[in-house]
Amino acid sequence: MKDGQSSRTAEAAAALRANHFQNAENPVFADPFAFELTSKGWQKLLTTTPTVKMMNSPVFNRTLGLLTGQVVGRSRYAEDQLYAAIDRGVQQYVLVGAGLDSFILRQTQYYPALKIFEVDHPDTQTAKQKKLKVFGDIPTNVEFVAIDFEKESIAEALERSGFQQEQAAFFSWLGTTHYLEPQTTLNTLASIAIIAAEGSEVVLDYSIDYRQLQGIERLGSLFVSQFTGFLKEPLRGQFQTKTLHQAVEKMGYDMVEDLSGDGLSERYFHNRPDRIRHTIATHMLHLRLQQT
Ligand SMILES: C[S@@+](CC[C@H](N)C(=O)[O-])C[C@H]1O[C@@H](n2cnc3c(N)ncnc32)[C@H](O)[C@@H]1O
Repeated sequence: MKDGQSSRTAEAAAALRANHFQNAENPVFADPFAFELTSKGWQKLLTTTPTVKMMNSPVFNRTLGLLTGQVVGRSRYAEDQLYAAIDRGVQQYVLVGAGLDSFILRQTQYYPALKIFEVDHPDTQTAKQKKLKVFGDIPTNVEFVAIDFEKESIAEALERSGFQQEQAAFFSWLGTTHYLEPQTTLNTLASIAIIAAEGSEVVLDYSIDYRQLQGIERLGSLFVSQFTGFLKEPLRGQFQTKTLHQAVEKMGYDMVEDLSGDGLSERYFHNRPDRIRHTIATHMLHLRLQQT
């Protein structure tokens, strides 16, 4: 991330959620706050008729729409797993690299006993907190924890907060590992394994090696790489699935699921008339800390 600048890719992700909510029939993930949370520039584009038409055209949906599929698909998957974890009694939710995620606006009133921790880069957090003021006071069960993953561990950051290490927690880590060195992602997962109680869960998305992609997927991946480079948040992290699995198993995680892009399309985008689907460039990984 560029020093002193809040995450531009977080704004782009919120803009894609806003467009999907405003224009898609039967949205895969409904985020009514994304429009207010994204930047003024994106708000202008999202209210300009030719841009809105272009962003929701069949050609766009089959090409750049892969990015929309990725952004709404990962949020839907993570929250599906979160609600299942809450049903099992988990009462701590840690949004790692929260960006402009609107869970605290959409859902806190339904889960007053859930302790929510937004862990993110301080520049992104400051900008978000300013935007949140429009919606009134921040709910009392929400805590913001600042971190730069490249400089400190998540365990150190959470130790400064009210996070209860002896209670199981659910961690979602969306749209972030792509921008970190692979070793930083592995260090962060190892750090979660140290600080979190057994039975805690982690859901994250990761990029596969772009050389495994072909056709529109490979071009799309190249486009995203150029675009995020332009936003000063270059793509850095890709993984071989098998190597990643072996690494996290050594840290003490059980693999609950590794869902490929096609698996996500099958689960959430089946037979959509707008043809939006999930890219095959990223997977969702769901891990649970082993119980001894
Ligand atoms: C593309 S956004 C994803 C935001 C959100 N999770 C979503 O799905 O929309 C990437 C997030 O990673 C965070 N991030 C990137 N590099 C970081 C770093 N070195 N330390 C802390 N946060 C970082 C940014 O602040 C931003 O919130």
